[in-house]
Amino acid sequence: MDQKVILSLQGLTKRYPGVIANNNINLDIYKGEIHTLVGENGAGKSTLIKSLSGAVIPDEGKIIWEGLEYQHMNPKLSRELGIEIVYQELCLVDSLTVAENICLGEKKGSLVDYKYYNTVAKAAFHRIGIKMNPMKMVGDLTTAQQQLVEIAKAISKGVKLLVLDEPTAPLTNEEIEGLFRVMTTLKEEGVTMIYISHRMDEIFRVSDRITVLRDGESIKTINTADTNRSELINLMVGRQLTESFPERTYHSNEKMLEVEHAYGMGDSDISLYIKKGEIVGLGGLLGAGRTELARMIYGADPMQKGTVKINGKEVYLKNTSNGIAAGIGLIPEDRKRQGVLLNFGIDWNTTISCVKKLSHIGFMNFDKIADVAKKYVNKLNIAAPNISVKVESLSGGNQQKVVLAKTLATESNLLIFDEPTRGIDVGAKQEIYHIMADIANEGKSILLISSDMEELLGMSDRIYILAEGRMAGCLEKGEISQVRIMEMISNAMEEEKR
Ligand SMILES: Nc1ncnc2c1ncn2[C@@H]1O[C@H](COP(=O)(O)OP(=O)(O)OP(=O)(O)O)[C@@H](O)[C@H]1O
Ligand SMILES: [Mg+2]
Repeated sequence: MDQKVILSLQGLTKRYPGVIANNNINLDIYKGEIHTLVGENGAGKSTLIKSLSGAVIPDEGKIIWEGLEYQHMNPKLSRELGIEIVYQELCLVDSLTVAENICLGEKKGSLVDYKYYNTVAKAAFHRIGIKMNPMKMVGDLTTAQQQLVEIAKAISKGVKLLVLDEPTAPLTNEEIEGLFRVMTTLKEEGVTMIYISHRMDEIFRVSDRITVLRDGESIKTINTADTNRSELINLMVGRQLTESFPERTYHSNEKMLEVEHAYGMGDSDISLYIKKGEIVGLGGLLGAGRTELARMIYGADPMQKGTVKINGKEVYLKNTSNGIAAGIGLIPEDRKRQGVLLNFGIDWNTTISCVKKLSHIGFMNFDKIADVAKKYVNKLNIAAPNISVKVESLSGGNQQKVVLAKTLATESNLLIFDEPTRGIDVGAKQEIYHIMADIANEGKSILLISSDMEELLGMSDRIYILAEGRMAGCLEKGEISQVRIMEMISNAMEEEKR
């Protein structure tokens, strides 16, 4: 690899009230490498890359780009220099089309040239190998599609350094493969990349070198070939951490949830049950209908036919209030859109779904609200100066934890976790697994949807497999394996074809 330094960060420091987000960071990025930043939620990764676009102005330090020194960047300058950033938060305009978003800020004369916009957009999509209609409104796209538009937008310019802040968090496994192909192509073209991710398998697959940040400081930069998973985790969390799945103690034959011959949006016939104290997994490929099924059980989407029983009693779920009243809680997959009120504090966000319980004859009990918020801030280790700070000032992963807290605080008897650990760091992942086990050990039940095979296999007592919206089968604890799951999926797809 060419060891020419394209970018050098020297002594970068950024302070926020009550926290030093970046503390005297020195980092060299080589031309043409894929350099991954890792670290726990709130370690300072996003803050660091935001100083490359001028979205963050460092308090101290300097940025040296291709030999020239800058005190700080601004969006126009960094773009001119060939630096493009795909942020963790999406930055598209919902009310514009895909093509307009991709060409935003580019004006040819005073006219808006739609034909030109479409050509640029199409070329960008072609390059990343995906099909998308450039005329579609961005507001109508899924989060994953929006993410792909962000990436297309970044590479439509003459990019020299592409920064990807947790690009895979909202993507399905197939889309992730697509993204990796794009990254390989860009690398061959000599584009330098800074990559941020919490997923160990990805980190080891794509990176040439890795830099570990902890508490705003740069701890170590290592060649990927010279390190391994456990060393990296220990560097990140600063203590020994064993990756394991917690013990479970509660066993019962009573059923918490029974779904019988349910038909939702599609024409599928779904039956499943979850016993008290069980964690039941829902596996399947993209578009298999897992989220749809979860939403139907919760009452968010209509059920055309069939029955749902909670604790042996039939419930009629017409909307989410019915679901909550029946003791069901859902942690949504699309947390960016359905998750939090960014302008409100952690305290309000965590208690908004259980505020009735915390009130007395219509008066809110602020002490109780604070107690509940504090409890979950501690339990989930949410990094924040206090419980009333606005959620928008938290790091991406800590915002996610607030969404988890919100549903956990409802203390529902049946909790549905839809991709609970996406964007969550390794240490916090372990904490979430323990919280799930604690919930199950209290005799409550969990339905777990996860694309993370390790997690699904490690946590589930039983796994139902969905394929193409239909129930492809079920595996009991002793018979669960990744191979069996993949077999079931492919058999179901074969049958579908016939
Ligand atoms: N605008 C802001 N105002 C106040 N504090 C902030 C702001 N942005 C970030 N912080 C704080 O700076 C610290 C670093 O946050 P940063 O977003 O860089 O973390 P991160 O490493 O990207 O984490 P994650 O993995 O969760 O995305 C956190 O403590 C965060 O709360
Ligand atoms: Mg971040």
